[in-house]
Amino acid sequence: MTYPETNKTHPPTHSLDSVRKLIANDMERVNSTVQQRLHSEVELINQLGFYIVNSGGKRLRPALVLLSSGVFAYSGADHINLAAIIEFIHTATLLHDDVVDASLLRRGQKTANQRWGNEASVLVGDFLYSRAFQMLVDVNSMRIMEIMSAATNIIAEGEVQQLINCHDPDTTEANYLKVIHNKTAKLFEAGAQIGAVLCNRSVAEEQAMATYGRHLGIAFQLIDDALDYSGSAEEMGKNIGDDLAEGKPTIPLIYAMAHGTGSQASLIRNAIEHGGIDKLDDILAAIESTGAITYTTARAREEAEKATRALSGLPASEYLEALHTLAQFSIERTH
Ligand code: IPE
Ligand code: IPE
Ligand code: MG
Ligand code: MG
Ligand code: MG
Repeated sequence: MTYPETNKTHPPTHSLDSVRKLIANDMERVNSTVQQRLHSEVELINQLGFYIVNSGGKRLRPALVLLSSGVFAYSGADHINLAAIIEFIHTATLLHDDVVDASLLRRGQKTANQRWGNEASVLVGDFLYSRAFQMLVDVNSMRIMEIMSAATNIIAEGEVQQLINCHDPDTTEANYLKVIHNKTAKLFEAGAQIGAVLCNRSVAEEQAMATYGRHLGIAFQLIDDALDYSGSAEEMGKNIGDDLAEGKPTIPLIYAMAHGTGSQASLIRNAIEHGGIDKLDDILAAIESTGAITYTTARAREEAEKATRALSGLPASEYLEALHTLAQFSIERTH
């Protein structure tokens, strides 16, 4: 197998199959750790927890931990626990997020809040968060504890900042970018970084991985926000229009408002102020005619390129190659 030189444009990769194959054994161990540590004496936690954990998530964040530690040829067992920990934290944020966003569909099935109610979702989310921190104590690295606790704290800040921006059509693109960095990119950043920390690599290598994860996460959320207007519910396993329903000023709307006609701008302004999807068709037309999805995708591509560039000083391997593939997937994805 030949490894591409860094900074080169890679041919399109439309699936994660090669990445999955590379880490298949480790991911199996991650999944069994997840199943084991999910267990509780409280039956509702088991029911709801198993429902969400086994509903077909992409497992991207645990994959990042495995790949990052693979780049540095890690030989211990903590990467498995850390990958499981990160998936628990991600799952907790999803349980909370679907309550906050009043979402009804996740991973192609009813959201947990739709099935068991908001209260159960919030509380089981708390269980998963705290279980993740119990497992972190077992890993016994103060440095990793520091990174993970800072990341989860920033995710919470990002979600609250987003709540404040809701129904505010004057939210700037810079403010929006700050929110997505915090709510989404921070966990990608932490996942990539801890692979280097586990292997006691240099500060420069740790930072290279963190920078990669940060830009990957921003690209990932930019595309998520584009897909909320342009994707297919069937492929995504989530309903489109969820962001509009809650009056969220995401980048497709911010761009279409700034570049549309006066009447398109006031249509969008009004939709953000009041929420609801009754004007979805007109808004989709405004997004289409202003090229807002093309713009969002181009922004995401820039981020993915920055992610890729951050890897340039790292040793070539199939793990590094897989990180390139992930960056590409983050912009080409339809789910
Ligand atoms: C969903 O993340 C939340 C966002 C940050 C957009 P994923 O798209 O990685 O969710 P799953 O785990 O694959 O379902
Ligand atoms: C991601 O934002 C939220 C988290 C980081 C938990 P979204 O609210 O857009 O995620 P989806 O679209 O519901 O997966
Ligand atoms: Mg949501
Ligand atoms: Mg949300
Ligand atoms: Mg979304």
